[in-house]
Amino acid sequence: MDKHFQPETLMMSHGYRPEWSEGAVKCPIFQTSTFVFKSAEEGKQFFEVAYGLREKGPKETTGLIYSRLNNPDMQILEERLALWDAADECAVFESGMAAIATVLFEFLQPGDLLLYSNPLYGGTDHFVHHLLPKFGIDILGFHPKATREELEQLLIQSGKADRLAMIYLETPANPTNDLVDIQMCREVADQFGMAGRRTLVAVDNTYLGPLWQHPLKHGADLVLYSATKYIGGHSDVIAGACLGNAALMARVKTLRTFMGNMIAPHTGWLLLRSLETMKLRMEKQAENARIVADRLKNHPKVAGIHYLGLLTPADGAAYETYRRQCTSPGAMVSFEIEGGESEAFAFLNNLKLVKLAVSLGSTESLAQHPASMTHAGVSPEDKMRYGITENLVRLSVGVENVEDLWWDLEQALEAVPVLEMEMEEVLV
Ligand SMILES: Cc1ncc(COP(=O)(O)O)c(C=O)c1O
Repeated sequence: MDKHFQPETLMMSHGYRPEWSEGAVKCPIFQTSTFVFKSAEEGKQFFEVAYGLREKGPKETTGLIYSRLNNPDMQILEERLALWDAADECAVFESGMAAIATVLFEFLQPGDLLLYSNPLYGGTDHFVHHLLPKFGIDILGFHPKATREELEQLLIQSGKADRLAMIYLETPANPTNDLVDIQMCREVADQFGMAGRRTLVAVDNTYLGPLWQHPLKHGADLVLYSATKYIGGHSDVIAGACLGNAALMARVKTLRTFMGNMIAPHTGWLLLRSLETMKLRMEKQAENARIVADRLKNHPKVAGIHYLGLLTPADGAAYETYRRQCTSPGAMVSFEIEGGESEAFAFLNNLKLVKLAVSLGSTESLAQHPASMTHAGVSPEDKMRYGITENLVRLSVGVENVEDLWWDLEQALEAVPVLEMEMEEVLV
């Protein structure tokens, strides 16, 4: 068959043949730790390929050996996920943090410089600030609104530009929805760095991927996901993924084999099931988010809103980046409640339908307070610098009936006490 099907069509079948499993229409859970070889010669051949002792033959497939190296649920999931980002290869992990940590450890070595965008997801931020320096890796953060000239200046002034090994981005940034221009970072990576060693650009695409942003097309080398979010989509698994070209992914998979942080067969199977409805879910979530954001922006208790769908040409570079890099505003909305922490808490404590929980991208709507929850570990100075304020609330919009959702948000906003200053203004 030479018809080129779209990824959403292939999510039900790609990489699996019913004759492998007694005609089962769906890939079963291969809950096994190890696989039987037909002969000792076959076992030897499988290991030669798996351990890189020789190149795989043109028609040779990677044989099943042991579930830390490969497993049908893991392999089929990787083949399906790779379709969305049009990547050569994908590696799936037991968590998003496992994918991120493996990439940072594989591609950075003592003496290297990591340049990263701010703000980062709290877990990644901790890893970068507390783990990497222990291994002699220098780190340098930049503001998501930095221009190319400012990035160049930052690198030059650091005195470490010739040691730039990786630029790590989160775009849109969690929780502020600030956008970083991937193509600009590619150009900076090519301009600086070490002679004879490519400076890599790695992008955490959790917020918009794998549907609405494809970093590899904009010059990234590696794409990372917390598959716990949109890919899983039901708040019932923790998982992660990394995608890129064959050469880089061979290194990622090798380190995964020895760290042993690969996905489990049952989790892989759950994600195969999730992928079948991913596009439908994400589209409905984005549709709901657009309606909710439009109403929130006009609400008197909302002091400010961060939602990509509200960018206009007046936003300059952010708008241009959005138009070039993203195909939808997504379903993440952050907004400042009039007041401070106690007003934000009043809103969160009064929600009746939306759950007060961290995480995002699932069928149910979730709200949380980044400053004291997901980003609690970020320093007070950085929180202020990057807009993670006391009155900021992050909302992940789900697939509920949008009028039910709005009813809940509106009644929780109404329950937020009016600020005293405002009361005085009203009295005057
Ligand atoms: C943007 C982003 N990246 C990475 C992670 C880490 O993923 P996991 O919790 O699956 O380890 C998260 C988790 O919230 C996230 O929001």
